[in-house]
Amino acid sequence: MTSRPGTEQAPGLPPDAGPAANGAAIIPPLRVDLHFEPAGTSVRVPPGVTLFDAASWNGIAIDSTCGGHGTCKKCRVKVLDGSAPASPLDARAFSPDELRAGWRLACRVQTQADLRVEVPPLVTRPKAATVGVGRQVILRPAAQKRYLELDEPSLADQQTDIERVLAGLDDLELRVDLAVLRSVGRVLRAADYKVTAVVVDEVLIAVQAGDTTSRLYGIAFDLGTTTVVATLLDLSTGTPLAVASMLSKQQPFGADVITRISSIMMDPAAMDRLTGLAHDTLRELTSDICAQAVVDPADVLEVAVAGNATMTHIALGIDPEPLGVAPFIMSTRHFPEVLAADFGLAVHPRARAVVFPSFGAYVGGDITAGLLASGMDRDSRTRLFIDIGTNCEIVLGNSAWLLATAAPAGPAFEGAAIRCGMRAADGAIEVVTMTADGLGLKVIGDAAPAGLCGSGLVDAVAGLVGLGLLDPSGRLVSEEQAATIAPGLAPRLTRLGQERVFVLHWLGEAGDVEHSIYLSQRDVRELQFAKAAIATGWNILLEEAGLRPSDIRQVLLAGSFGSYLSPANAIRLGLVPDLPVLRVVSAGNVAGEGAKMALLSLRERAGALALLEEVRYVELSDRPDFNDRFVEQLPFPA
Ligand code: FES
Repeated sequence: MTSRPGTEQAPGLPPDAGPAANGAAIIPPLRVDLHFEPAGTSVRVPPGVTLFDAASWNGIAIDSTCGGHGTCKKCRVKVLDGSAPASPLDARAFSPDELRAGWRLACRVQTQADLRVEVPPLVTRPKAATVGVGRQVILRPAAQKRYLELDEPSLADQQTDIERVLAGLDDLELRVDLAVLRSVGRVLRAADYKVTAVVVDEVLIAVQAGDTTSRLYGIAFDLGTTTVVATLLDLSTGTPLAVASMLSKQQPFGADVITRISSIMMDPAAMDRLTGLAHDTLRELTSDICAQAVVDPADVLEVAVAGNATMTHIALGIDPEPLGVAPFIMSTRHFPEVLAADFGLAVHPRARAVVFPSFGAYVGGDITAGLLASGMDRDSRTRLFIDIGTNCEIVLGNSAWLLATAAPAGPAFEGAAIRCGMRAADGAIEVVTMTADGLGLKVIGDAAPAGLCGSGLVDAVAGLVGLGLLDPSGRLVSEEQAATIAPGLAPRLTRLGQERVFVLHWLGEAGDVEHSIYLSQRDVRELQFAKAAIATGWNILLEEAGLRPSDIRQVLLAGSFGSYLSPANAIRLGLVPDLPVLRVVSAGNVAGEGAKMALLSLRERAGALALLEEVRYVELSDRPDFNDRFVEQLPFPA
């Protein structure tokens, strides 16, 4: 039994099967094999994916200026082997001889069988943008504009107004919004029948006077529990025009999703207030980025929202209470027909909202977006994706299989539950370096140290473990031992009341521990609990896949915290597997990147939906061995 070329296979699994769970193999979705000449590249895609999308998805450039919308007729390919029936558009683009020879428009061929295809050299260069973790995305947004110069009606030509517009768009099969009918007659006559049709997906959402084709924008939102980030994109070029972020206005209702759900359980009126605050946050960011880029919000035609399941439910006014109690049920995995207005946004009134689907109550749309951006489902290398936060989402796998889980890491990394902890804001110690003779601190902003954020906490604990001032069980050593091990640091190892502490930055009078910034024995325990939960999560996934840590080719640290975490120290503490440090990389704000990709490419958007079928969720909370496994992971690596 062999694995197919270019994929890694979990030992003991049949090719193409997901990892066995309780002895049962997962049946993967059916795929078709496509072979592109002269590149000699073979790819496997779900049936129904167009040749154009399959090629662009795998970095094979096919000529196009319309991005696969079926209007430029430049995406000519020759089918050498296999069956690909000609589409009505093919009959207009090719002669009968060419059709018989196998010529087809790649964007019209919906693959249903294995094909071997020849791709002619490029004549024009397709527009592409680099987004995600080094991903090249060929631009094909759902939103498009067409400038039309139409004939005026006459007694000999009595087409209705909307028939006249649709006749100018005869390559598209469109539905028409009622709002368009209300204004189309007035717009046509006022603009001398020179208008721009605004189309999103298969819907004509507006007819605008004159040529407005240069104004085509979208907004990608990373709807985090703590921070919300918005990026304004020019959809015709893929260029980000402005970015803004702010703390969620829901903060007064609690720092994490559980406290926000609890607020709603205790007071039903809190639901409307939380929804309103989510909308206020999104609206304020929208105004900010549109003002920065001098863009009229009415020209924003689509938005994409990547958020965890709770944040998404609340923002759409859906009661999240069932997410907070076992068995943790979502109202839906995906949200098919949502408008930007449903998020309270004052952009184009018919602008659509793409809402990322969730795998489960605790592996939400932000992770779907992150996986899309990292391309885990398209990479033959086995990779481990970890988004560290209060709830830590973990995904292991490669292009053949993916496993996901969620581990309750608690608030240590957010700075909460840590005595001198704070969020990663001005004044937070974000980097701690230690030698036996002393320590160095890096503080966010031009500010005096005011507290310790998650990455500083990890650095400080890793430094103490590395020097031997913390033993593997997580206990601070005695003052006498410290004086021998690290004389320059020993005076910092002291007590506050009965508790052992390590002072990172002295404040106030000499020896005033209470007003200084310190790490307490209890803080170390909090970090141990968090790291044990995460390490238990990825260990269980490795076990499910029948793999060892050394089989992991790359660890992606995602999310705002993961981006600032020192890979070496994450390894030192056992937060990630013990691998060569270069295999552990920061992936940045992958949720926001995934949201951008969904706006720029319909294919990538479909890829996000397909992920729902490709990922198997492993529930940790009902495993009888979870507690024992958790306790095993509490010590730091010796
Ligand atoms: S890509 Fe333009 S017609 Fe196919």
